[in-house]
Amino acid sequence: MATNALYNRKIMTDQFAKKTQAWSGRFSEPVSELVKRYTASVGFDHRLALYDIQGSLAHAEMLEACGILSRVDLDAISNGMARIRAEIEDGSFRWQLDLEDVHLNIEKRLTDLAGDAGKRLHTARSRNDQVATDIRLWLRAQIDITARLLGDLQRSLIDLAERHAGTIMPGFTHLQVAQPVTFGHHLMAYVEMFSRDADRMADCRRRVNRLPLGAAALAGTSYPIDRERVARALGFDGVCENSLDAVSDRDFAIEFCAAAALVMTHVSRLSEELVLWMSPRVGFIDLPDRFCTGSSIMPQKKNPDVPELARGKSGRVTGHLMALLMLMKGQPLAYNKDNQEDKEPLFDTVDTLHETLRIFADMMPGIEVRTERMRQAAAEGFSTATDLADYLVRQGLPFRDAHEAVARAVRHAAGRGLDLSELPLEELRQFAAEIGPDVFESLTLDGSVSARNHVGGTAPAQVLAAIARARARLA
Ligand code: ARG
Repeated sequence: MATNALYNRKIMTDQFAKKTQAWSGRFSEPVSELVKRYTASVGFDHRLALYDIQGSLAHAEMLEACGILSRVDLDAISNGMARIRAEIEDGSFRWQLDLEDVHLNIEKRLTDLAGDAGKRLHTARSRNDQVATDIRLWLRAQIDITARLLGDLQRSLIDLAERHAGTIMPGFTHLQVAQPVTFGHHLMAYVEMFSRDADRMADCRRRVNRLPLGAAALAGTSYPIDRERVARALGFDGVCENSLDAVSDRDFAIEFCAAAALVMTHVSRLSEELVLWMSPRVGFIDLPDRFCTGSSIMPQKKNPDVPELARGKSGRVTGHLMALLMLMKGQPLAYNKDNQEDKEPLFDTVDTLHETLRIFADMMPGIEVRTERMRQAAAEGFSTATDLADYLVRQGLPFRDAHEAVARAVRHAAGRGLDLSELPLEELRQFAAEIGPDVFESLTLDGSVSARNHVGGTAPAQVLAAIARARARLA
């Protein structure tokens, strides 16, 4: 699809186009240049061009099948549209600001090529149901790309998690060392998030995939049309049931932006961790050079620009969601020009989301994991204290008493500058007589993670099982 290449192309104005404005007969004077610029959308909505053609062809074929358009006119429209499509794809199509939007630009060109047949295309249709159809067709395609990209990112995280199913790192709460976890388990948490994101996208797609055409301006049309036929031709699951709703609501776009904002929020959390892990003070990972930049003044710097920028861009996408919600909230039924403002936030959401997902799927497999540094950090901060309490519970102590005994042992060990596992047995026994020589199995990092051996736990065996389930989900 050549739409991306189209996106930034300069739009030309054409002095001859003034007289051809589709609604010009009603007006005694042309709009000012400023108003023309202010109200035109072709500068961005030309991105919908190929979907606009697809929708128009399905509409024209239905008109012909219903006896509203002649076969000759349909052929002229089809041939004209084929030519227009080629012009758009090779970049020779002349977009004109005077023609306001993508729909009128294409219709004008069609009329130049096909004469009266071009003028008949708009029978039983309005730009209101036309634009709603175009956005839905475009967004459906973008959701399918989003689903693929979310799958790619999950796969890259799963592969990394598999390599680190047994790699031990500190798990944090409040950003304080809490209990040891495996790095694979940590990564699989993000796979869960992105998997739910993919579900949300699939769910949103069901509501996007309904046909507005036939609603015409707002009330439906007096022609004997066949909406189901158009819906089938365009791959929609069905038609929008109410014409007023069909042309006016953009909740499907808002829903998509909400789902996208959640994806970006998850990416932002991951980004924050990558930045933290890469800080020399933490030193858990290094990012490949190609995802980092240096400093123009400090020669030693290697900055994690990609995750930082992704964290920043999550705010931008959330902003687009807010923009669309505000766009919708005061609109009476049915279509209002406000809705033209739906496109830029939606387009930028998709662009930002897709670029971010692509770059993360590429970046994650390349991260260099400092397993020794992770293990060392897990060994600091008494991360197996809970395991000692659990050990005492197994010896018959009530959990609260065990908790208190271990708290005192931690205080003692901290005073001596040792980890719990480094205290001699006799010293440990001062805090609870129930402690025996087998306690050290519970106090090791590997013993701690292996003990959490149930669905959803951090034990390496469970991480591998979670990986198998996630792979099956993606297959
Ligand atoms: N460019 C318009 C939009 O994006 C198309 C629909 C215009 N309809 C109208 N009656 N002005 O919403």
